[in-house]
Amino acid sequence: MSKYWSELTKGLVPYVPGEQPKVQNLIKLNTNENPYPPSPKVIEAIDGFDKQRLRLYPDPNSDVLKQALADYHEVNKNQVFVGNGSDEVLALAFMAFFKQAEPILFPDISYSFYPVYCNLFEIDYQQLPLNEAFEIDLAGYPAENGGVIFPNPNAPTGRLLSLDQLRNLLQRNTESVVIVDEAYIDFGGESAIALVDQFPNLLVTQTFSKSRSLAGSRVGFAIGHEELIEGLERVKNSFNSYPLDMLAVTAAVAALQDEEYFETTRNKIIDSRDWLTAELQQLGFEVLPSAANFVFTRHPEHDAAELFAKLRERAILVRYFSATRIDQFLRITIGTQAEIEALVFALNEIIG
Ligand SMILES: Cc1ncc(COP(=O)(O)O)c(C=O)c1O
Repeated sequence: MSKYWSELTKGLVPYVPGEQPKVQNLIKLNTNENPYPPSPKVIEAIDGFDKQRLRLYPDPNSDVLKQALADYHEVNKNQVFVGNGSDEVLALAFMAFFKQAEPILFPDISYSFYPVYCNLFEIDYQQLPLNEAFEIDLAGYPAENGGVIFPNPNAPTGRLLSLDQLRNLLQRNTESVVIVDEAYIDFGGESAIALVDQFPNLLVTQTFSKSRSLAGSRVGFAIGHEELIEGLERVKNSFNSYPLDMLAVTAAVAALQDEEYFETTRNKIIDSRDWLTAELQQLGFEVLPSAANFVFTRHPEHDAAELFAKLRERAILVRYFSATRIDQFLRITIGTQAEIEALVFALNEIIG
């Protein structure tokens, strides 16, 4: 604590990202990265990038990427916003839409960055409990609110809401912005982008970090009504004119052009998720149904913190959260088939 900090800085409780250890040969299943490299087209595009151009500022509007996303998702370019990872897009959206008289609503078990943004931007919030099956119960969300946000599929549970459930909420909740954070949607869900033309208060965010293997490039985006996008642009242009660098834009555009690679890698992850789920169940684990690139699982007889520690001793890193209600769960990212086979082998040794 420094006397030079503002009162706001003193009160911050920053988000703590999953560990990025420098240890060699670690099986890293803790931050929901994609185990496969970016598409060969991405590598080729970066190799072919004219490095001389780096002396110039990038396009402040990232128009090429916005147009590529608009074409891909069949919307207009003015319905697309891009940012430095979906974390930045979310932060700007909190700033643009959520500072209201009423508190915003999100689930009690959800992406732990949401309360951090509320703290930073001094936004009131209310967390609504997941039901007994760890599902988001949108029917219980009161219509009086300053905004609504949840991931779909939810993190860290992996549980998915259907478009019908989202439509029901949006039909009732017309007076505040609803953000659907679709960081993991490509691993098994239907995107709410299909609903943006019907609901002017719906903003859908997605990322290149997971299904496009570009976590290191930091590219995220939002799609919604052009007035929401204009609001985001106002905030972005009051903060940082150039959030996306030239290489990030080059990589993201090339990733969108390789549908075949995208399909192959996401299907491999979905197949490995199904395989891992069955193996964990064989070992006596309960596994929540997941539509994401991770599973959330607990064992009735083995303490999660101990399992986490014993896996770590074997150079396998998964994610453990000590929060109430979920302190007996492990979140395991779907790695390559070989990686999750090594995980199952280790679990057999530990509890077998
Ligand atoms: C639910 C959710 N939303 C958003 C993000 C942010 O992703 P990025 O900033 O890499 O786009 C994450 C990252 O793990 C996430 O789990």
